[in-house]
Amino acid sequence: MNINGSTVLVTGANRGLGARLVAELLRAGAAKVYATARTSGTIAADVRADPRVHPLALDITDQASVEAAAKAAPDVTLLINNAGVLAFGGVLDGDLTAFERDLATNYLGTLRATRAFVPVLKRNGGGAIATVLTLIALAPATGMAGYSASKAAAHSMTQSLRAELRDTGIEVIGAYPGGIDTDMLAGIEATKAAPEQVAARIIAGITAGEQVIWPDDASAGAGAVYLSDPLALEQLLAG
Ligand SMILES: NC(=O)c1ccc[n+]([C@@H]2O[C@H](COP(=O)([O-])OP(=O)(O)OC[C@H]3O[C@@H](n4cnc5c(N)ncnc54)[C@H](OP(=O)(O)O)[C@@H]3O)[C@@H](O)[C@H]2O)c1
Repeated sequence: MNINGSTVLVTGANRGLGARLVAELLRAGAAKVYATARTSGTIAADVRADPRVHPLALDITDQASVEAAAKAAPDVTLLINNAGVLAFGGVLDGDLTAFERDLATNYLGTLRATRAFVPVLKRNGGGAIATVLTLIALAPATGMAGYSASKAAAHSMTQSLRAELRDTGIEVIGAYPGGIDTDMLAGIEATKAAPEQVAARIIAGITAGEQVIWPDDASAGAGAVYLSDPLALEQLLAG
């Protein structure tokens, strides 16, 4: 999809990868970017200063908020589902309330936003939906069982959507990063890519028409393992 001249809505755009995606979209020539956040006032002042940026309140776990955003942004041609949360915990001892929160945001929230914007994209003649998943949607990482399951559900949703929207002209894209250096992994020892680089590779992948994007070196390597032998990736990530 050509980013130049597009109208994009990014969820969770106030910090982390979402903020870098907004910067990259502007650099790539997007005509308008709805930079959305649970509290729209948290979009940085220098980002707001660009006349192409339209801050908008959007909590993807809140149906009324999602419906209001779809009404307020009727010209969207590219939806980027970026918002997400991560709770740490093992499959046997992780806090189930935290597992539910991850599912409510990463799976059901992403699905809720997607459902609201499919009619908008259809009315605007096609476009694309890009969802930020994670490498560990494909095989879980130790100590992140609930998060991995929630992202696996979002991965499955992406596949269902691709089938369902096949004849509509709407592209359905999944991005599968490895670790990224944002608040989400603060204090965790891991290989982490710079969020600016991940954002640039996601936008380049969307532009190139890729349906599956490996937006950093670690995910590109692990992705190749997954594509040749899914069980080998499971063993690799299990440590
Ligand atoms: N960091 C990594 O290593 C990594 C790796 C692979 C994939 N990812 C994925 O990349 C995406 C961005 O993560 P990040 O690393 O940038 O994390 P982050 O720095 O923690 O930022 C998360 C963003 O999601 C927003 N958010 C959370 N719940 C929301 C809700 N209910 N409605 C709307 N926005 C909500 C947050 O808003 P508030 O400021 O209001 O909390 C924040 O803007 C996520 O989908 C994450 O799963 C991250």
